[in-house]
Amino acid sequence: MSVHKKDVKKVTTHVLQAMKHAGEKISMLTAYDYSLAKIVDQAGIDVILVGDSASNVMAGHETTLPITLDQMIYHASSVIRAVDRALVVVDLPFGSYQGNSRNALDSAIKIMKEAGAHAVKLEGGKEIQESVTRILTAGIPVMGHLGLTPQSIYKFGTYSVRAKEEEEAEKLIADAQLLEEIGCFAIVLEKIPAKLAERVAQSVNVPIIGIGAGGGVDGQVLVLHDMLGINNEFNPRFLRKYHNLYEEMKGAIMTYVDDVKSRDFPNDTEQY
Ligand code: KIV
Repeated sequence: MSVHKKDVKKVTTHVLQAMKHAGEKISMLTAYDYSLAKIVDQAGIDVILVGDSASNVMAGHETTLPITLDQMIYHASSVIRAVDRALVVVDLPFGSYQGNSRNALDSAIKIMKEAGAHAVKLEGGKEIQESVTRILTAGIPVMGHLGLTPQSIYKFGTYSVRAKEEEEAEKLIADAQLLEEIGCFAIVLEKIPAKLAERVAQSVNVPIIGIGAGGGVDGQVLVLHDMLGINNEFNPRFLRKYHNLYEEMKGAIMTYVDDVKSRDFPNDTEQY
């Protein structure tokens, strides 16, 4: 299968698999709404993640825990309406899949039916094995997420780098192999040492997508608002900012305010 951008009309889980084997890196960004998802898709991204980071970015919560399944469906359905090419993966929110695989299946089916998602993402390894397996039996593709898993922030206590110690690193490798074995099509690794992430990418056949996990993995994901510099309060070492839209947008709005106050806007050609 050719995986060149011009040849791939729609990105599927099989295309991602082929990219890993061809050594072509996978690009992934978040989006939560129609307008930005359209730009991201038209720019040629491979995967769009409707992340539960919408809880922070769109709603201003301190953590990802408060966002609900219905709110995720609202964001995801807006994104789906904008997208022609990218694979759209949607996060199952906190409380919609942990501890009860029937609940997990219901949540995943609701997201697929009501939002039109292409796949779901769940945080965790062995402890959510039953939920992942049950969702997979319904034919719903599942992306795993290991390392820093923000839905467990109250267990970790901080957002610092995970799996620096041998014991946690070994568990992470075992979890990645388990997720592959039960049928996940890809795994996100968040904020772990680059050497460990590379080791995981080499030890499984499914694509490993990193965020703060170095360059030795199969692809990269960032939060769109962070990499565009719309959010200027989050500056971790792993983040590359491609713009400073916070300042640019603020400047444009300040000019508009001045133009309205000074009666410069609207002028003769900007009216009927
Ligand atoms: O919710 C999210 O945006 C994520 C990414 C950070 C991977 O899970």
